[in-house]
Amino acid sequence: MNLYKPVLTVLLTGLTGALLHAQSATSIGSPNQAIRLTVQNSPSGEVTYQVRYKNKPVIEPSGVGIKLSRPQVTLNRFTITAIDSANVDDTWKPVWGEEIQIRNQYNELIVSLQDKGGSGIGMRLHVKVFNDGVGFRYEFPKQAKLDHFVVADELSQFRFASDHRTFWMPGDYDSNEYLYNFTKLSEVDATAALAKEKDIALQSPIGPNAVQTPLLAKTADGLYISLYEAAVLNYPVMALQLDKKTLTLTSQLTPDAVGNKAYLQTPAQTPWRTILVSDKATDLLASRMILNLNEPSTIADPSWIKPQKFVGMWWEMHVGKANWPLAGGKHGANTANVKKYIDFAAKYGFDGVLVEGWNVGWEDWFGNWKEEVFDFVTPYPDYNIDSLTTYAQRKGVRLIMHHETSGSVTNYERRMDAAFQYMVKEGINTVKTGYVGRIIPRGEHHDGQWMVNHFQRVAEKAAQYKIMVDSHESIHPTGLHRTYPNWMASEAARGSEFNNAPTLGITPEHTTVLPFTRLLGGPMDFTPGLFRMRLNQFDSTRTTRVRTTLAKQLALYVTLYSPLQMAADLPENYEKHLDAFQFIRDVPVDWAQTNVLAAEPGDYVLIARRDKQSPNWYVGAITDEVSRDLPLNLSFLEPGKTYEATIYRDAPTADWDKNPEAYVIEKKTVTAKTKLNLHLANGGGCAIQFVRK
Ligand code: NOJ
Ligand code: CA
Repeated sequence: MNLYKPVLTVLLTGLTGALLHAQSATSIGSPNQAIRLTVQNSPSGEVTYQVRYKNKPVIEPSGVGIKLSRPQVTLNRFTITAIDSANVDDTWKPVWGEEIQIRNQYNELIVSLQDKGGSGIGMRLHVKVFNDGVGFRYEFPKQAKLDHFVVADELSQFRFASDHRTFWMPGDYDSNEYLYNFTKLSEVDATAALAKEKDIALQSPIGPNAVQTPLLAKTADGLYISLYEAAVLNYPVMALQLDKKTLTLTSQLTPDAVGNKAYLQTPAQTPWRTILVSDKATDLLASRMILNLNEPSTIADPSWIKPQKFVGMWWEMHVGKANWPLAGGKHGANTANVKKYIDFAAKYGFDGVLVEGWNVGWEDWFGNWKEEVFDFVTPYPDYNIDSLTTYAQRKGVRLIMHHETSGSVTNYERRMDAAFQYMVKEGINTVKTGYVGRIIPRGEHHDGQWMVNHFQRVAEKAAQYKIMVDSHESIHPTGLHRTYPNWMASEAARGSEFNNAPTLGITPEHTTVLPFTRLLGGPMDFTPGLFRMRLNQFDSTRTTRVRTTLAKQLALYVTLYSPLQMAADLPENYEKHLDAFQFIRDVPVDWAQTNVLAAEPGDYVLIARRDKQSPNWYVGAITDEVSRDLPLNLSFLEPGKTYEATIYRDAPTADWDKNPEAYVIEKKTVTAKTKLNLHLANGGGCAIQFVRK
């Protein structure tokens, strides 16, 4: 039911200047009144906004505005000419996701601003206040004094009330594959954080006090505050510059090759700047505000979009059993080898088989900044794609295509149509894209407006061919999977491949931070499911290792949501633990309901989800390096029904460091009245399936 009921109130139009100043503070509450946002206009024209949660400061009065280089004007002193407000309460159904239905409830203000500097330019500050946070953006209506324009800088500010502890990544225009640092704002040191990361292929530091969004703050008075963005389209990604004296963060947009930030034409708008806030950490994980700030789906008939689980010709190359290029004698993507993966997928009920290294070009694909790398339609001679697609089809499995662009995006843009047509011809409807290395057009960054537009073009073009997309090294997700539900997942953070990175790897804490940061924007292709934790299986000199227990690898399928989930390890490693592998076979990738039961960023996450296709529930619990007990009250189960619980837990002696592969599987009959205690080892986890009897 659509409950949209716009209430339009023009409060200040036509008032004289003096009266305007007297009434220049306008305030709006969230539907439940917990959040209050106030917009103020000072006598000299500055417009600030302020956010409070249950009367505690979230954002102290902070400036808004934008600086243009064409026309050359700084828009940061305004006269407020009108304020409109409305309240909205409706629900919508995502094509896939963490629940069947999402409520979109907010109160909004549209503040019309006229430049006080005499340019004649008008713009709007559009604010939406939800129960879980606030979004605001700038809108530039069509007008005589502004048509084409170039953004030099956005002047949005976020001033914190005190020196909060924050989870942050150093600002970088090309990579979001960092570990999170947890320090006070005054202790942010992006230069040091960049320097300790030796395994990131390309670093483009923004500066010593620059951090990426999302930024997560945990305040001394018990609030969790996330600064992020939603609906990044036709505009660069936003990082933040920190002023340690005033504890103010100012938007820092990614520049293009000549230093500009965005090229726009009226009517235009910026992405939403988002501030999630709650005194309960679990509320952040349950928030759907970022999705709600995105536009509805552009795909009229989404019946071809299918959440799926896949295995693949992938990890064996990362751990040194095989390799991507044909030259060198270890070519993984050969017909016989891929056939084994198809057999394995078919035997254990997986939908897809990802094949990397199938196409000509891997011999010198990386690090040369060359434009012609892959053509995306020429398989290596030992890879008989025609016979494999037929073979896969017979077995009820589909190949997943890999398009590594090597950052040469001009090349990919030229070849994309042919590449997608080739996929259609081969009956392949999912592509994993990759953007490792420096971007071409040269001088562009992964996070710039040009690349943002590229990712949108890929999503739209893929939809024309009914192709689902999983992008790696792409921009951080900002809820665009609502608008483009075929852009199902992205990596866009430090994923499981970094377990094999020699320097920092993946800390036990990392996966307890991701849900509060990167995952707020959308699903991640993290590629969980590693069962062999020492990565020296094919190369005894390797010291890299996975810093989790095996049970935690299972739990990640529940705690890190994605509609595309890989079972990343090798068939031979799964075959040694078929009992534990059963959980990966069973766990759904599309949910009817999600209950975030307990969570603390950097410490632990406990989530229960109900399958979309059955009355069955699944639970995932993970911890950082600290062993802990989490009580689990099963009151979410249907009252009066009995369930068989299959519990995959850490063995009493399990420990990510000393004994990572020790697990216990036990069955219990339970009801909604049962209370369990989950014991998680250091770096451990627990996964449970509840099948209704
Ligand atoms: C980086 C991706 O994240 C990884 O999954 C892929 O195997 C390599 N690039 C090669 O494309
Ligand atoms: Ca990557």
